[in-house]
Amino acid sequence: MVDEDKNEMVVTPWEVKGRVDYERLIREFGTQPLTEELLQKVAKHTDGLHLQLRRKLFFSHRDLDTVLDLYEKGTKFVLYTGRGPSGPVHIGHLVPWIFTRHLQEKFDTRLYFQMTDDEKFVIDDELELEETRKFAYENALDLIALGFKPENTFIIYDVQDIDLLYDIALEVAKRVTYSTAKATFGFQESTNIGWVFWPAIQAVPCFIHAKLTGENVPALIPAAIDQDPYWRITRDVAAKLGYYKPAQIHCRFLPGLGVGGKMSASEPETSIFTVDPPNVVKRKIWNAFTGGRPTVEEQKKLGGDPSICSVFQYFYFLFEEDDKKLAERELRCRNGEILCGECKIELTERVNKFLSEHQKKREKARNIIDKFHIKR
Ligand code: TYM
Repeated sequence: MVDEDKNEMVVTPWEVKGRVDYERLIREFGTQPLTEELLQKVAKHTDGLHLQLRRKLFFSHRDLDTVLDLYEKGTKFVLYTGRGPSGPVHIGHLVPWIFTRHLQEKFDTRLYFQMTDDEKFVIDDELELEETRKFAYENALDLIALGFKPENTFIIYDVQDIDLLYDIALEVAKRVTYSTAKATFGFQESTNIGWVFWPAIQAVPCFIHAKLTGENVPALIPAAIDQDPYWRITRDVAAKLGYYKPAQIHCRFLPGLGVGGKMSASEPETSIFTVDPPNVVKRKIWNAFTGGRPTVEEQKKLGGDPSICSVFQYFYFLFEEDDKKLAERELRCRNGEILCGECKIELTERVNKFLSEHQKKREKARNIIDKFHIKR
């Protein structure tokens, strides 16, 4: 969606820019807000609400209610999510994956995870196939480091596993017209034909469980809202192919460390990558945009504004689990009792602690990565 006149919000699977208005996305994408009632329905199966639901990081859905109703009547669902391996993983990518792991554990269900090494090759002029395939492997280590269960996790590497995907991709592609694809994705005359066909491939894992097991169950897709255009076309085709429409649960974007916008690998100085060493994390956080005042005196007198502060957002999204302590930090900032430097130092410590553990698990994942590759 592009609106250059109002606030320059751009949200597509390939680009997110400007101040993201999530209410407006719900209206314009035609999704449903995650209501309190629905959250309570989730909570019944998950021993309380996960932080990302409590803090409304996940804010929108399609058919989550249907999936839960079916589940309560005995039809399970599978989880599906993925990654476009164009470089190292940043901590924004971890947000939906952490939640997916929680769902896998609580609902004891399979996860299909798609590594779209083909997508990133066709859409990015700078990247060679060899590189995206290498990043697919490296990014899978990040996924595994989060603690997914090998017996219930099936990673698909598109290029390597295309034989498994191709028949379903053809069934999907045959049922999506060029005009629908163009309207959904904004294709231009200059768009290469690989890219035009490609959305059929992202649809496949929604249906692959039936092919592998003979069990026709819905897929639930946790992801940020940028991926939603794919599901619009997939949902239209699903019924024609005899499958359930895939359901979604959409999260907000972890912002970058700069002003506005999401954390994005194309802006490395405002993104924290999972492979960043401690001194690099320290530098990036130290240079972050905050809601602080220009001078210490003003900060003490007038207080800061956590609502626009990127540092506060990181506590909010990932690095302060305790709701009470988070509220205290917010209040102390507003009252001028805490300075930006203190928050930055604390955040740096927490991020580096998390990353040092994550990096160890990531290295160990090299020994078990094969266990996670989709089995035929
Ligand atoms: P990719 O690699 O752009 O993003 C991977 C996942 O991370 C989410 N995401 C974010 N979440 C929170 N904050 C951010 N700043 C942020 N940036 C990205 C994305 O929404 C996504 O969930 N085409 C896809 C790969 C894919 C996929 C899927 C993703 C294939 N099948 C199914 C989700 C679900 C891609 O390039 O994702």
